[in-house]
Amino acid sequence: MTTPALNLSNIELHYGFVRALDSVNFHVNPGEIVGLLGDNGAGKSTLLKVMSGAHRPTTGKIEVNGRELHFHTPKDASDAGIQMVYQDLSLVEAQDIATNLQLGREQLRPFPFNLFGIVDHGAMQRSSAAQLDRLGVRTAPMTRPVEMLSGGQRQVIAISRAAVRVMEGNKTGHNGIILLDEPTAALGYEQTRLVEGLILKMAQEGIAIVLVTHNLPLCFKVADRIVVLNRGRKVADVRKNDTDNDSVVGWITGAKAAEVTA
Ligand SMILES: Nc1ncnc2c1ncn2[C@@H]1O[C@H](COP(=O)(O)OP(=O)(O)OP(=O)(O)O)[C@@H](O)[C@H]1O
Ligand SMILES: [Mg+2]
Repeated sequence: MTTPALNLSNIELHYGFVRALDSVNFHVNPGEIVGLLGDNGAGKSTLLKVMSGAHRPTTGKIEVNGRELHFHTPKDASDAGIQMVYQDLSLVEAQDIATNLQLGREQLRPFPFNLFGIVDHGAMQRSSAAQLDRLGVRTAPMTRPVEMLSGGQRQVIAISRAAVRVMEGNKTGHNGIILLDEPTAALGYEQTRLVEGLILKMAQEGIAIVLVTHNLPLCFKVADRIVVLNRGRKVADVRKNDTDNDSVVGWITGAKAAEVTA
């Protein structure tokens, strides 16, 4: 049996009197894409925040690549190879694509310039271009400021940055985990296709992917497995090929009884 990249057991999380997560078990394997579905308020974002270290569960266990870990901050999760892409993206608008991709890990010019903290923009642009080529995405020249990009191009850059971080900062002995919270919510047809291609490419690189979305066609296209939350409980965990659209809608709305087969 494969060791899951990420495994959560019996996760419980309360916001005051609201029980946002109720004994949730969840796992994602290396190179697997899991679609995490559910109606508004079902607990999807809360579960992603537990995985990314932004929220601590009231009870429950988190294992990364078979090792139990306790996340106190998002940095702990990031050090363990987990990157979350939020809907608001957190790109720096006035900076160019290369700088945004390298944010927090700027390359310095060789000695003696490095003594003065001089950033090597040429090297950064070359390595950013190489990273995007590897992921099969080329949206615009590396020197273009992010504020001049469309929403879809920005989304691609934000997701690519997460991919680059897990692929490069990999001292963890696994291929990393990317958590995407509604990455195509604001995108049109072409841009959704672009993000879809990028998600598949990242999975091919061995990255484990959790995709929160309200877009069922997208989920059925890219996901290997589908997990549905309803009022903080997991009501379905099934392989995509073993289910269909009507069943998934039934689990989302609560019309269909719970089913955990995967
Ligand atoms: N910071 C918070 N404080 C209090 N309650 C919260 C907080 N965040 C979420 N909740 C509550 O927890 C429950 C789950 O919310 P969550 O944001 O995880 O839902 P979601 O599945 O992501 O929904 P959506 O599809 O609308 O994004 C909801 O009842 C919500 O009102
Ligand atoms: Mg949400």
